[in-house]
Amino acid sequence: MIEEAAKLLARSRFAIAFTGAGISAESGVPTFRGFNGLWKKHRPEELATPEAFRKDPYLVWEFYRWRMDLIRKARPNRAHYALAELESMGILKAVITQNVDDLHREAGTGNLIELHGNIFRVKCTSCGYGEYLKESGKLEEFLAQRNLPQCPDCGSLLRPDVVWFGEPLPRSALNEAFRLAERADVVLVIGTSGVVYPAAYIPQIVKETGGRVIEINTEESGITPIADVFLRCPAGEAMEKLMTRIKGLI
Ligand code: APR
Ligand code: ZN
Repeated sequence: MIEEAAKLLARSRFAIAFTGAGISAESGVPTFRGFNGLWKKHRPEELATPEAFRKDPYLVWEFYRWRMDLIRKARPNRAHYALAELESMGILKAVITQNVDDLHREAGTGNLIELHGNIFRVKCTSCGYGEYLKESGKLEEFLAQRNLPQCPDCGSLLRPDVVWFGEPLPRSALNEAFRLAERADVVLVIGTSGVVYPAAYIPQIVKETGGRVIEINTEESGITPIADVFLRCPAGEAMEKLMTRIKGLI
């Protein structure tokens, strides 16, 4: 199976990757629906929805500050670095991720589409203001506060720049992801339950346009039925074996 996946990738014309929370599990970032999933402790309705934010912005900001603090201590793992290396080898043309943890960017992936936003970016609830706290060096100060953060331009409330349940995905990111999926002849799907739409359409579009689907997951998912190759293996271990085989083929 690894051999077949390596051949598909090494011989691909336009390969992309599509990732979910499972690729970051090894970095210590909790998944959403796995046995230690985030939603087990917190009900999504209470935290990651526009209604929750309207009802109790303090609770939602407590949750997101907790997650930001947890995730900023996480480091990319072997799987993130392997995807960045496949891109530098010219094999991988883009990474489309549902993750908001910034680990693909930290690992060096250049062409990155973040379908669900980025937990280190905040945006204004009223005007167009937005800020990437890691870049502006304000992350520590931001996490030390307990108040409701306000927009420096118009004074309105700031919110995390992530997609909440029931919200539309950023139009440009989604269009770019669909365009890439239509062009791709191989999609490497890593660590997603494949149950959240429209993101989960990405592998289906590749399949429908004649491409091949390789899936890496520790258990079957909503994508497995359309996978040409299914590697039941943790992402880091699978990517390490895959890289060795690919380098042996090119
Ligand atoms: N290696 C590979 N796969 C793993 C690993 C691992 N070490 N650990 C867990 N997985 C798999 C699980 O089997 C599961 O299929 O990763 C998947 C994680 O699924 P989810 O927790 O549902 O995460 P994801 O698919 O990214 O969720 C999609 O839902 O809650 C929303 O916006 C949120 O982006 C998220 C979206
Ligand atoms: Zn504003």
